Amino acid sequence: MPESSTPLPAPTIAPPGGKLGVLCVGLGAVATTFIAGVELIRRGMAEPVGSLSQVGTLRLGKRTDGRSPKIADVVPLAALDDLVFGAWDPFPDDAYVSAQKAGVLDAGRHLEPIAEQLRAVQPMAAAFDANYVRRLDGENVKPERSKRALVEAIREDIQAFQEQHGCDRMVMIWCGSTEVHLDPSPVHADLESFDAAIDDDHDAISPSMLYAYAALLEGVPFANGAPSLTVDVPALRDLASSSGVPICGKDFKTGQTMVKTSLAPMFKARMLGMDGWYSTNILGNRDGEVLDDPEAFKSKEHSKLGVLDTILQPDLYPDLYGEIDHVVRINYYPPRGDNKEGWDNIDFHGWLGYPMQLKVNFLCRDSILAAPLCLDLALFLDLAQRAGMAGIQEWLSFYFKSPQVAPGLYPEHDLYIQQTKLKNTLRWMIGESQITHLGVEYYADDYLPQDD
Ligand SMILES: NC(=O)c1ccc[n+]([C@@H]2O[C@H](COP(=O)([O-])OP(=O)(O)OC[C@H]3O[C@@H](n4cnc5c(N)ncnc54)[C@H](O)[C@@H]3O)[C@@H](O)[C@H]2O)c1
Repeated sequence: MPESSTPLPAPTIAPPGGKLGVLCVGLGAVATTFIAGVELIRRGMAEPVGSLSQVGTLRLGKRTDGRSPKIADVVPLAALDDLVFGAWDPFPDDAYVSAQKAGVLDAGRHLEPIAEQLRAVQPMAAAFDANYVRRLDGENVKPERSKRALVEAIREDIQAFQEQHGCDRMVMIWCGSTEVHLDPSPVHADLESFDAAIDDDHDAISPSMLYAYAALLEGVPFANGAPSLTVDVPALRDLASSSGVPICGKDFKTGQTMVKTSLAPMFKARMLGMDGWYSTNILGNRDGEVLDDPEAFKSKEHSKLGVLDTILQPDLYPDLYGEIDHVVRINYYPPRGDNKEGWDNIDFHGWLGYPMQLKVNFLCRDSILAAPLCLDLALFLDLAQRAGMAGIQEWLSFYFKSPQVAPGLYPEHDLYIQQTKLKNTLRWMIGESQITHLGVEYYADDYLPQDD
């Protein structure tokens, strides 16, 4: 159906009663910063800065109506008090120890007051294979060797967690390391081939696919925060649709790509030409160490490089954007820990071809930017499931560097188109009218047809 036609009728949304289990695959820097943050926020000890679901508002109706309630006040989201956290990790550290090692949060101010809650998050044994994440070697690993047995073991973990914590509903977020690059292959084309490949212990089935598959079989929505292929294959997309489970990914859009997908639309909007965009980073956390492996970096590079083409549309504007040197580098530099530093140099040109440059030096905190995204994704995926919205959740593209979209569609990368899409989807879900920014109704007197 074309996008401009009347949207589908608003869904009926089941109320968010009971507890929502949030299962993080990987209990590293991002996951512990997310979990600790929610624990602090629900005790009134911190503010949910950066979380659209908690802080953001939704304009409803006309600009003159003055209705801009908080999203959380009009959209039936699970309450923070109802979230229960679980995780898997090949390292045996609980969330308290892992958060300390990650060094993102101030221990005295942000870990000690919630030490008991963090210690309670003990990682379940991971479905881990060092062939897919080469720089790590933990001992908290499932003994099962075959891929089929690992899927079953993850399913049992999900069921046991749900029962132990009395969860009404669950969501799963991949906060684990980036796996080596895998291309989609015939093995992923449909469920039958995918299942056969699991039985054959085929190399094209990575651990992240086993978690995603187990989640879908258990009816648990899945978000992929890493750039790995994971749930972005036809077999799992089809399974998500047919079993009524929402999915989304890939790769949290936090640092340099967030900046890139905000700035690139500016050049495009003003029809300024571009010659090159050079992006480099230094990063010293465990994620940086994993990405130091060229095969893992390849996954990241794919995800980071894709954004410019769809924003700038070189096919439509070959003279402006036909030949851009786009280079992305990540350098592992341990002294910086989680505090990434990124540099962007953009060579562009204007009227009559005169060259100009823009340079951006972004000193960011990786996990501080990613944690609120985890919270929003957990709440919005749960909302989608209660609204009966299965399969790919394109409206959550806002959170990803490499958004999953229906086959045949190109992804929207422009941060502000993504934001509009997200907010309009929320309006649609709660039966409110879309905001198109047309606004001619405010000028009805001026725009009336003229008499000859
Ligand atoms: N701003 C950001 O921090 C950001 C942005 C985009 C994407 N990401 C991605 O998010 C993920 C998490 O980032 P991080 O900084 O927390 O990394 P991290 O290295 O601190 O944590 C990842 C954890 O995943 C665990 N892990 C690896 N394989 C696993 C498996 N098979 N099962 C269970 N656990 C497994 C590791 O042991 C590690 O503790 C990475 O893939 C990263 O590329 C992060």
